[in-house]
Formats: sequence, C-alpha cells, structure tokens
Amino acid sequence: MGGTIPGSTGAPPFVVLGVSAGIAAYKAVDVCRRLVDAGIHVAPVLTERATHFVGKATFDALGSEPAQTTLWDEASPIPHTRLGQRADLIVVAPATADLLARYAGGFADDLLTATLVATAAPVVVCPAMHTEMWEHPAVQHNLAVLISRGVTVVAPEEGRLAGGDIGSGRLADPSVIVERVLGLLGGAPRGHHLGAGTAGGGRSTRDLAGIRVVVSAGGTREPIDPVRFLTNRSSGKQGHALAEAAARRGAAVVLVTTGKPAAGPGVVVEPVETAADMEAAMLSRAEGADVVIMAAAVADFRPKVVQGSKLHKADGVPDLILEPTPDILSELGRRRRQGQVLVGFAAETERVSERARAKLADKGVDLMVANDVSAPGVGFDHDTNEVTILGADGSVTDVPLRSKDAVADAILDRVCALLSAR
Ligand code: CTP
Repeated sequence: MGGTIPGSTGAPPFVVLGVSAGIAAYKAVDVCRRLVDAGIHVAPVLTERATHFVGKATFDALGSEPAQTTLWDEASPIPHTRLGQRADLIVVAPATADLLARYAGGFADDLLTATLVATAAPVVVCPAMHTEMWEHPAVQHNLAVLISRGVTVVAPEEGRLAGGDIGSGRLADPSVIVERVLGLLGGAPRGHHLGAGTAGGGRSTRDLAGIRVVVSAGGTREPIDPVRFLTNRSSGKQGHALAEAAARRGAAVVLVTTGKPAAGPGVVVEPVETAADMEAAMLSRAEGADVVIMAAAVADFRPKVVQGSKLHKADGVPDLILEPTPDILSELGRRRRQGQVLVGFAAETERVSERARAKLADKGVDLMVANDVSAPGVGFDHDTNEVTILGADGSVTDVPLRSKDAVADAILDRVCALLSAR
C-alpha cells in the first residue's frame, strides 16, 4: 500500500513498536506489517519474555530494521536512549499488566521499559490481558497514572480470550491500533516531540481536561413481560468510543448505557435499560455537565402495559398496545444550561442530511451527527462509521469511513471548538 502519513514530509516517521509477553503478541505482527505498509519506519522492540510467544525473526523480516530484545547488545551499547530519542512515537501492543506496572513505576530494567522511560515522544499503550487482571484495581490504577502523564490508551475489546474465556481484555483490533497511531502522527511533524502531558499530534490530547461530559449509548429495551422486550439494532459501540475518547482527552465522563462492553479507564458507567431509566439518568447527569452527547438509540415506542408475569402461547396472541417514549434529547435541549454543548445523532437510511438538519433544529442541539446506516461498514454493530457533523451554525464536517474511535475524536474536535468559542 505504501501510504503516506497526513501532514508528514520528508523521511518516514520513526515508530518503536514495543511487544510485551502476552498471547496477543502474535497480533503485533499484523500491527507491524500495517504500520510498515502505511509508510512508517518501524523499529520492533520485544521483551525477552515476549519471544516465548512470537519469534524475533518474524519482526526482523517484517519491521524496517532488525528487532531488538536486550539492553546488552554489543553492537549498540546504548540502544535505549538511541531508540527513545529517535522515536516520533512509541506504541506498545500488547501491553501486559506487568509491563504497565513497570512503566507506571518508572522501571527501566529491560530494553522496552528503558526506551519508554528515556523518551519524550508520545506513547500509546494497548493493554491485553484476562478480564480479572484488566479489572484489578492495581492495573486500573497504573493506567490512570499513565493517562495522567499523557500516555494514550487504546482500550481492549470484549471477546474470546486465551483459554476460551469470554470477557473484556482482548487486544484492540490491529486496524484500530494503527488508525490511532496514524492519527497521533498526523499532526506531529517529524522531529517535533510532544512532551509529557500531551500525547496527540499537534493538539493536546488533554484538551478536555476539567470538562464534564455525559454520553448515552446503546439501544433501550422496553419490556413486554419479564422475559421479552422491544429493542433495536444499536450496539452502543459509537457511544462507548466517544466516552473513552473524551476520557483520554482528560474529561470527567459519565456513560449512561444499555450496553455491556467494559468502558475504558476514567469513565463512570451508569447502566440503564429502558427509555424511562435513560431519561431519568440523563436529565439528572446533564444538570452539572458541560457537554451532553445523546448517542443512544432510544426506542420511540414502548408497550403501554407491561405484564407482571410471562405471557404464554395458550393465552393467545397478545394485543400489544404501544405508547410513545419521552424524547430525551428534546427535553435536554429545553433544559440546557448556559454554555452547555449538546450533541445528537441521526441514524437515517434516506434523505440523510435533510432529515438530520430538521432534527438539529427541532431538538435544539449544537451538533447533529448524521449517518446513513444503510451504507456498507456504517452504523449498527460495525467497528467503523462514516458521518457528517452538522452544526447549528451551518457548518458541515464530513468524516469519511474510519474506526469508531477516530470518528469519536472527530466529533470531540468539533465539541472542543464550540467550547472554546463560549
Ligand atoms: N432521541 C431521544 N429520545 C427519543 C428518541 C430519540 O433522545 N425518544 C435522540 C437520539 O438519541 C438521537 C436523536 O434523538 O440523538 C435522534 O434520534 P432518531 O431516532 O434519529 O430520531 P427520532 O427523534 O426518533 O425521529 P424519527 O423517528 O423521525 O427518526
């Protein structure tokens, strides 16, 4: 593919790819290949224990230079400072619980941790571990320490883990990791190292520090009886990506969600089920918020009567009488406090911009994020999205197909612009 990095000129960006000792190390091979394909100079650094999971020779072959595994390479007596100084960015994938602890603690007893401690370049860590380890307070504390120092975290996903268990802790998809790296390099001219406290390309990734953000996500479930409900196809992924991106950028985030996936560090999750639950949570959380984002797919109708016990076939086909749910976003628009930024979503299948523009005006929001959910790779249950962000000020920002993390950052860029204008 041999692509270029947006905003880069001259020599390719120099990225150190750190690999620590987890089963997901095999996926780092794909990260390496994709970065090289994107025109990046990749210097792989494996911990010695990582070589139990994946061979050095593989990275020798796929990286831009031979992989390094030790501080004691006679050919290069000080590789830790050389690599750290030369790097435009360091990405660690997978980052094990042990690696995160040693990095957070400032340990420098192998080449990878020494390189991390000896750099002023932006650092991205991509944790991967078993759910119990991911949720352990020590791991979350170490992540919070790293985030407070400006390190970018690409949160793990929910899915199948080593040993067949299902849970959160699976390494983020290589395409998502690479997208994040390219995004961070995009505004960082080669040779310009961002110091601790900023980890983004050109803009501070802490540009939402001190801002209180409330995000809703997922499709609401409207019960018919104790075992059945009406719902929709929303996965909640875009809302979760928004919450995580806002937290990475320094915001204090509350995520009101019907979804199950683990939210990233720095996000307080308030689980809800129905439109009524979501309305109560959003109206109360929005009172103290600077930014409110309604990414949830709220059911428009709910059964008027909820049966207290299970309906049985023998009772015949039930007469399901529906009633409208409250329009939460419109109510948020009515109650909005001075200076608050309000963002809605419009998932459409036809006349997308026209309908979204009408909803923007009707609901009294600042930004309406419109997407055509009938397009390939867009909307419900995909890891990617393609949106147009319409502003009440008449602005139109097209965000082409990309990961939901990258779309989240594009939306937050618009939010930041509005906040700074108030
Ligand atoms: N929304 C809401 N409460 C509802 C319905 C929608 O807060 N009862 C919010 C959604 O979270 C979204 C925006 O309103 O941010 C637009 O939702 P959408 O389903 O696209 O529009 P509707 O208002 O349901 O209008 P329509 O049925 O005509 O598409």
